[in-house]
Amino acid sequence: MNNNINQFPEGFLWGGAVAANQCEGAWNADGKGVSIADVGTAGAVDKQREYTDVVVEGTYYPSHEAIDFFHRYKDDIALFAEMGFKCFRTSIAWTRIFPNGDETEPNEEGLKFYDNLFDECIKYGIEPVVTISHYEMPYGLVEKYGAWRDRKLVDFYLNYCKVIFTRYKNKVKYWMTFNEINVISINPFRPAGIKFKDNENKEQVCYQAAHHQFIASAKAVKLGHEINPDFKIGCMILYPLIYPETCNPKDVQVANEAMNKHYFFSDVQVRGYYPNYMTRYFEINNINIKMEAEDEEILRDGCVDYIGFSYYMSLVINSKPEQENTTSGNVLGGLKNPYLIASDWGWQVDPEGLRISLNNLYDRYQIPLFVVENGLGAVDKIEEDGSINDDFRIDYLRRHITEMKKAVTIDGVDLMGYTPWGCIDLISAGTGEMKKRYGFIYVDKDNEGNGTLERSRKKSFHWYKKVIESNGEEL
Ligand code: BG6
Repeated sequence: MNNNINQFPEGFLWGGAVAANQCEGAWNADGKGVSIADVGTAGAVDKQREYTDVVVEGTYYPSHEAIDFFHRYKDDIALFAEMGFKCFRTSIAWTRIFPNGDETEPNEEGLKFYDNLFDECIKYGIEPVVTISHYEMPYGLVEKYGAWRDRKLVDFYLNYCKVIFTRYKNKVKYWMTFNEINVISINPFRPAGIKFKDNENKEQVCYQAAHHQFIASAKAVKLGHEINPDFKIGCMILYPLIYPETCNPKDVQVANEAMNKHYFFSDVQVRGYYPNYMTRYFEINNINIKMEAEDEEILRDGCVDYIGFSYYMSLVINSKPEQENTTSGNVLGGLKNPYLIASDWGWQVDPEGLRISLNNLYDRYQIPLFVVENGLGAVDKIEEDGSINDDFRIDYLRRHITEMKKAVTIDGVDLMGYTPWGCIDLISAGTGEMKKRYGFIYVDKDNEGNGTLERSRKKSFHWYKKVIESNGEEL
């Protein structure tokens, strides 16, 4: 708990976040296999990426080179260190360790890469924060098993966890089992590799796959604690703050129900059992989750240590059956909120919503929280002298940090850290674009893949350095 009630706690984990598939590139280097991200094409503004069935010659796949972090990580981490990062959130590409996902022995070359990467962080006193699966599962598992619809995936995932937990047990303390696990109910391919067959009950498939991920996550938490009792292993959810359009109780009810569809994922991972509202939903809608006899115990024994979550925006919905989304957002869309402005990609900027979200989550669960993604995807303009004055980004982050600080200092929320998304420009998960930039560090590359890949510091780089130096005092 915070000792000085006017400040962020001592040891607060300031840093930044990326995911392997969005920055590393080197998609087939050193024995790496094809991940689901590697068959993701580039979309356009507001056009979600499409995924091909195999890697098609002549098609542009943004993850194949990405920003070439694989070869440039030393220079990039030096820049993070210059900003004063206390932590760096990245993911391990499962396919570097198990190229097809179902091998029994890991790929040593892949393991070495992360040894070097983590050593480089540790050299600067930067704590690695690792997502075990961030939208990059082996494509081989999709082809051979239908991905997470098959319970066999639990064992493959566990084997992967065992290898990385054992190998990095003295280098990595903070882990998260699945990035934005709740996205499976909206976009099931990205987090779980689910492709539907004709006429099947989509909800049935998604929730069964989610159950397998819950079991995998719970077993991983237990295993991790056995390998190193100091590990802190969290869940990671996309937190969609959903407002009712009016105070009409019908709108409020609909908004609550929509929130529950997301709380379901954190409820299971934090509390260790299925909440009644979801069990009833399954019964009412004829969804049968196949569970093994030991599953209740597995879930109970594998509760997470903290909640990592992404927060970019809030949403508005109402109870009208014919409601059509009038703005887009992070995976989910909704109605326009007249009190908020939206980014060029239609994501509604809501800093106060972050304080509300932190309170909602802390009140509900009473375990530490970690804001592991937040930020503004925007177009950067390079001035003639080469500078990038991204005041709009500074403004976005300043306002969010201010609200986060209120949640900590006024509301008493236990918050471990803050890692803004895409601390270095990377490819967008949603659209595959480069143009949608989040970084403090600019990367010279465009939507078509042209550019020198050179890095440069934006104005926000210098601003964030001061924020960290002053532990959030100087905003
Ligand atoms: C989160 C994901 O949903 O949002 C990231 O965890 C993603 O992988 C981020 O990049 C921002 O979304 P986008 O579509 O702008 O890349």
